[in-house]
Amino acid sequence: MTRTVYVNGNYLPEHEATVSIFDRGFLMADGVYEVTSVLDGKLIDMEGHVIRLARSLAELDMASPISDDDLTGMFRELVRLNDIDQGMIYLQVTRGNPGDRSFVFPDPETTPSTIVAFTQNIPNLADAPAAKTGFRVISIPDLRWDRRDIKTTQLLYPSMGKMMAKKAGCDDSWFVEDGAVTEGTSNNAYIVKGNRIITRQLSHDILHGITRASVLRFASEAQMEVEERPFTIAEAQDADEAFSTAASIFVMPVVEIDGKPVGTGKPGPIAIRLREIYLDEMRKTAV
Ligand code: PDD
Repeated sequence: MTRTVYVNGNYLPEHEATVSIFDRGFLMADGVYEVTSVLDGKLIDMEGHVIRLARSLAELDMASPISDDDLTGMFRELVRLNDIDQGMIYLQVTRGNPGDRSFVFPDPETTPSTIVAFTQNIPNLADAPAAKTGFRVISIPDLRWDRRDIKTTQLLYPSMGKMMAKKAGCDDSWFVEDGAVTEGTSNNAYIVKGNRIITRQLSHDILHGITRASVLRFASEAQMEVEERPFTIAEAQDADEAFSTAASIFVMPVVEIDGKPVGTGKPGPIAIRLREIYLDEMRKTAV
């Protein structure tokens, strides 16, 4: 089945979908994105993604090319057209095609934003084998820019971080800045000590994860303690458990950091429980 994708208001077969070589997303990585997961053919945590997209666009002075309601409707239509039961929707909005290359932002009146979206079919997203064994991570310096709270398409360094992890025979990298963990290449990072979950507080240093917000809410509701503060790699290696969260992995246990097992070296009970709670609750509120 050919995938149907969305480009600037049109649903097209993927091989007919094109964007200009002058698009600022292509030339300047001048764009923002969202990744939303799909379970049982429904959109997970959609409201959070809609709100964060609007914030990313506003922070970069970029016009929104679609209303919140139309965005949800478009995602639903992509799910329907591509018959997705489990998977993800990737959405990208860029500052459009001004017809040439320039460092100056084009006038949004004459250069509308470009919007594209496509589905990724992942039949075992909820049941991912990696969730049973957990991620092994390495730590690397955080060399990204200082506005990581904006979900931009500038993903070269996170991509390099993923490759460094792969070369080391691991699954992911956690970024470290001024001695403390910021987050993973494409996820938020946590450690667990007893009944307490520790994760870095929100600031410009990290992406304000939509999964993070839900997981911390569920953790509090399940009588777990939540402490938002930076932690070091040494503290993480010494913790009872560690895990990462993102729309693409939900709650993913982390079992090893820089070659040292965390806790028992197996997925911990709190990470496993939070993953179950997250999936249960999200299935109830999916749209
Ligand atoms: N990444 N931190 C970073 C740097 C991220 O790129 C992501 C998400 C997260 C988690 O955010 P959320 O819970 O809203 O997915 C944290 C997506 C999944 C990606 O780039 O594929």
